[in-house]
Amino acid sequence: MTEPHILSVEGLTRRYGGVVAVDGLTFKVRRGTITALIGPNGAGKTTTLNVISGITPRSGGRVFLSGEDATDLRADQICRRGMARTFQTPQVFRSLTVRENLVVATMRLGTTSIAAAAFRTARLRKEEEGFRRSADEWLDWVGLAHCADRPIGSLSFGQVRMAEVARVLASKPDIILMDEPASGLSRAETQTLRSVLLRIRDAAITVLLVEHNMPFVMSTAEHVVVLDKGRFLAEGDPAAIQADAAVRNAYLGRG
Ligand SMILES: Nc1ncnc2c1ncn2[C@@H]1O[C@H](COP(=O)(O)OP(=O)(O)O)[C@@H](O)[C@H]1O
Ligand SMILES: [Mg+2]
Repeated sequence: MTEPHILSVEGLTRRYGGVVAVDGLTFKVRRGTITALIGPNGAGKTTTLNVISGITPRSGGRVFLSGEDATDLRADQICRRGMARTFQTPQVFRSLTVRENLVVATMRLGTTSIAAAAFRTARLRKEEEGFRRSADEWLDWVGLAHCADRPIGSLSFGQVRMAEVARVLASKPDIILMDEPASGLSRAETQTLRSVLLRIRDAAITVLLVEHNMPFVMSTAEHVVVLDKGRFLAEGDPAAIQADAAVRNAYLGRG
């Protein structure tokens, strides 16, 4: 039987000098769900994503991917184990087209050697063609097929955010971590993001997102984990979390 939890975090701790950003945090993410990690500003949400994805070292605790110990793996090793990550500020090459951005991102994951790239071997050209087709499919997925040939720098903020999602999907992840994907989006763009996330989930890709936009979280995630001051505070479905007195207090206490 496969492990029902794609991600499991046990006693995760991250200190910055005297600041305990994440403090003995334990939670699990069930495979095939959209799970949200919420909490007041400074609760340790971004740090948690950074430690899980191998960007920041932990001070203590363990991380498991599909039941296998993935503690202290490097970001590229985590990536090869099927975890992808989007950032609050999308990581793109502004002068390249939208399609080229996706191709470059997938090529870095590929097997192409520098020599093959320099001589543009027949095999490489064939591989590139495959990357381009795959890029177009993912752009279609996020509603950006019509923008494939435009420089990514010419897109709106919301479109760049969706291109970032397409880029991450092109790496064929099993789980995607997103830090505040709805921040800075218009109401219409937030709706688009929501339907894309549901589509990702329906394609059996797990999503763990950090988000401030509560109406968005409550209408999109099926499971919510709440953090306060680096610690686990509560978890449950959106209705239970909205009714939870400790959760309300944590938010009200910080305005
Ligand atoms: N690189 C860092 N150096 C020092 N302190 C940090 C660093 N990153 C985060 N912190 C601190 O850790 C705490 C949690 O931050 P963060 O994970 O960004 O919270 P959140 O994403 O929930 O707003 C905050 O007190 C923050 O100031
Ligand atoms: Mg943050």
